[in-house]
Amino acid sequence: MKFEVKAGDINKFKCDAIIVNVFEGTEKPGGATAAVDSELNGIISAMLKKGEIKGKAGDVIIIHTLGRILADLVTVVGLGKKEEFDELKLRNLMGDAVRQLRKYNCLKVATILHGGGSGGLNAVTAAQAIVEGVLLGSYRFNKHITRDDEERDIEQLTILENDRSKLNDIELGLEKGRIMAEATVLARDMVNEPANYMTPSIMAEIARSVAEKHNLEITVLGYREIEELAMGGLLGVAKGSRQEPRFIIIKYKGDHTNTGTVGFIGKGLTFDSGGISLKPQEFMADMKGDMAGAADVIAAIGAIAELKLKLNVTAIVPATENLPGGNALKPGDVIKSYSGRTVEVVNTDAEGRLILADALSYAVKQGISPIIDLATLTGACHVALGDMYAGLFTNNQEFALKVLNAGKTAGEMLWQLPLPQEYKELNKSDIADIKNSGGRYGGAITAALFLQEFVEDKPWVHLDIAGPFMAEKNKGILVKGATGFGVRTLIQLAMDLNN
Ligand code: BES
Ligand code: MN
Ligand code: ZN
Repeated sequence: MKFEVKAGDINKFKCDAIIVNVFEGTEKPGGATAAVDSELNGIISAMLKKGEIKGKAGDVIIIHTLGRILADLVTVVGLGKKEEFDELKLRNLMGDAVRQLRKYNCLKVATILHGGGSGGLNAVTAAQAIVEGVLLGSYRFNKHITRDDEERDIEQLTILENDRSKLNDIELGLEKGRIMAEATVLARDMVNEPANYMTPSIMAEIARSVAEKHNLEITVLGYREIEELAMGGLLGVAKGSRQEPRFIIIKYKGDHTNTGTVGFIGKGLTFDSGGISLKPQEFMADMKGDMAGAADVIAAIGAIAELKLKLNVTAIVPATENLPGGNALKPGDVIKSYSGRTVEVVNTDAEGRLILADALSYAVKQGISPIIDLATLTGACHVALGDMYAGLFTNNQEFALKVLNAGKTAGEMLWQLPLPQEYKELNKSDIADIKNSGGRYGGAITAALFLQEFVEDKPWVHLDIAGPFMAEKNKGILVKGATGFGVRTLIQLAMDLNN
């Protein structure tokens, strides 16, 4: 999709559809919507009066113009209640609007800067939200569908603004939004890809292409090298699979005056069957997405390079499948992690923490700090917080506040959960240094406590994204399937650290 910003009036612009707006409870349209209304002989006012247009957040009304203006269709989106309006709402309702418009096969669409007037948003924020909403809401994963799609995607979106002093800010917001959304789309594509198209080695190839595109240093370790480094966690999980594991390290060096590097670590289970502790079949297919954390960090580091942010970031991804097999880990096995500490594997389905332990130790050994990891780690976190919120755990409140803040700005919901050291005894093993499951209760917490053992004293935040990594239905910017949750928080965090 192409984007452009133009000075001018939306009622004089030739395209397939224009998008204007009304707030809930509006009796008379204002601004650009009023101008369009008068060209259309007051149809919008009439529909408002009749209650056919209500302006509820996400309402999308499409009207034929019958040639009264240059555009064929007028879309009136509801902005909701004025006092509840913000960029989050705007992003979501743009998502809803483009999915509706797509049914009309509109190729060229123009919009006003919603929220930039009486909505109270600044031009950068409004433009960014519009672009993100349009790109994320119109997302589709259809590469494996061979029949033709009836709905065509929008080819060009023009943001029209008649206040020329705002054009620069709109350009800026547009570019930010485009980079954030395109990175999210990359992560969604990777997560939606079936496991037979997203093996550890294919993921490494994608990481390579991202690195090449943005001039990043990349190292991919194969089975032999992982064995030489004695990463017993990653090797242990990989043993049950015919697919070789990969350990991916990507480096972005945006600040040569600083030796410090932020670590982004992503869980890269390209398929998690549970291993010998086999999962029930009902939701097993979703576990092709157990590499959502990995997709997030690969996509985010590319975007950070594209934005030329002034900081150093290292992304680390341990990638493997978790399958049962003659050589697979068995419940009760003991492995030696990269840190040298031993782990009793009481449940082979608690595999994420085994591979993350090695990645975290690796980051610590490399002097990387602070560290943030993203992982679809526990069903327990999904149960606790539902689909919208990721769980946040930390050993460093100062760093946690930065991440919480970045999440808020990016519009990705994070909720801090406690990390009580008293629960560490649940992870105690009789025969090894630690065991990989602390049982049913507080499962997200005991998993986080397990990870904490491997970060030493480094400031660290763990995001358990098992809830929000997938969406069950289309809603706002979310499209059924992978959400790319986490990408925008990581990019925003890098932007904030860059200041
Ligand atoms: N990848 C799963 C967690 C998961 C479940 C993510 C559903 C997204 C949706 C993880 O590897 C896992 O199996 N965790 C176990 C841990 C348990 C065995 C201690 C779980 O949550 O049941
Ligand atoms: Mn598992
Ligand atoms: Zn898993």
